[in-house]
Amino acid sequence: MLTSTNDRAIETHSLVKTFHTKHGFLTRTTRSTEAVRGITFHVNKGELFGLLGPNGAGKTTTVKMLSTLLIPTSGSIHIFGQDILQHTRDIRKHIGFTFGGAHGLYGRLTAIENLRYFAELYALPPRETHNRIRELLELVGLRDRGNDRVETYSSGMQQRLHLARVLLHDPELIFLDEPTVGIDPVGARELRSTIKLLKNQGKTILLTTHYMAEADELCDRLAIINHGQIIAMDSPSSLKSKLTSDAFVELKTSGENLPSVKNVLAQLDPDSEVTYNQHAFVWEVNIRTRQPGVVMELLAPLLSSNLIQTLGVRNQTMEDVYVSIIQNGGA
Ligand SMILES: Nc1ncnc2c1ncn2[C@@H]1O[C@H](COP(=O)(O)OP(=O)(O)OP(=O)(O)O)[C@@H](O)[C@H]1O
Ligand SMILES: [Mg+2]
Repeated sequence: MLTSTNDRAIETHSLVKTFHTKHGFLTRTTRSTEAVRGITFHVNKGELFGLLGPNGAGKTTTVKMLSTLLIPTSGSIHIFGQDILQHTRDIRKHIGFTFGGAHGLYGRLTAIENLRYFAELYALPPRETHNRIRELLELVGLRDRGNDRVETYSSGMQQRLHLARVLLHDPELIFLDEPTVGIDPVGARELRSTIKLLKNQGKTILLTTHYMAEADELCDRLAIINHGQIIAMDSPSSLKSKLTSDAFVELKTSGENLPSVKNVLAQLDPDSEVTYNQHAFVWEVNIRTRQPGVVMELLAPLLSSNLIQTLGVRNQTMEDVYVSIIQNGGA
């Protein structure tokens, strides 16, 4: 392990990345994109940290800078206490990264041949290679497919093999950019279990995702980035409770009975927010409220007289919180 005086695996300070791209054929003009605009955060050793944010927010650019693939325009990055620009080669030995998809695998080779090739490239001791490959194929759920050519794999299987490739040299810090994108629900669940297993082995993991339930399930802490800046950062549970104590009361009714529901909802306190969505003959009514118990009591008689079909309460999800943070520009 890299020697470090503190518990930080990653530490960034005022990190900036501006891209300059040339446009036009005759009159070449340069356009600047400020992809990352001064972000400061840290990830502790052993932590599973998430980066969330809309398309183009600057997540991949950040991950590429942290994993030595892009040089920052300004600001600093320390990995295990070492400056990334001064110790790039050393740091690379201790990190692994995947950027979605299955780049860098050879379709004509089998999974085992691919992993053997990369094990040689990483100069893994040949005696360890055999067991390591077996362990990793087991870990990513491909043990039975090790002798099949990679070109016969589905894209989800290729993605899992790619993760095995990344783990060959047993990196302490792993960057996963949208690891479950394009993977079916069962495969994604398996991959999330693998990610948890890696965390339990003491790895530090930074991942990006657009799946809020995934971020909620996996991350110890997360940062929400928008337009290249961090606009919220905390644990998923703190973000959910800090932001608001609102809950949602949800009901379904028919168009015919909707006016009766509206009559009752007219008695709600003005802070409550009601939204209506129609799906064929069914109306879904969603009431955001601080007093779900009171709202339920108001609506319960409608349920017993069959004027509504279903009635229930749900707490805020990570997705509700995320949408609210993005819409309001911060937590
Ligand atoms: N190589 C590049 N040259 C020019 N601009 C770039 C380059 N890479 C990224 N950008 C721009 O930087 C901004 C941030 O892109 P980035 O890929 O970091 O976003 P992201 O948060 O990962 O988005 P997504 O969720 O879609 O993956 C975007 O405006 C993008 O167009
Ligand atoms: Mg991205």
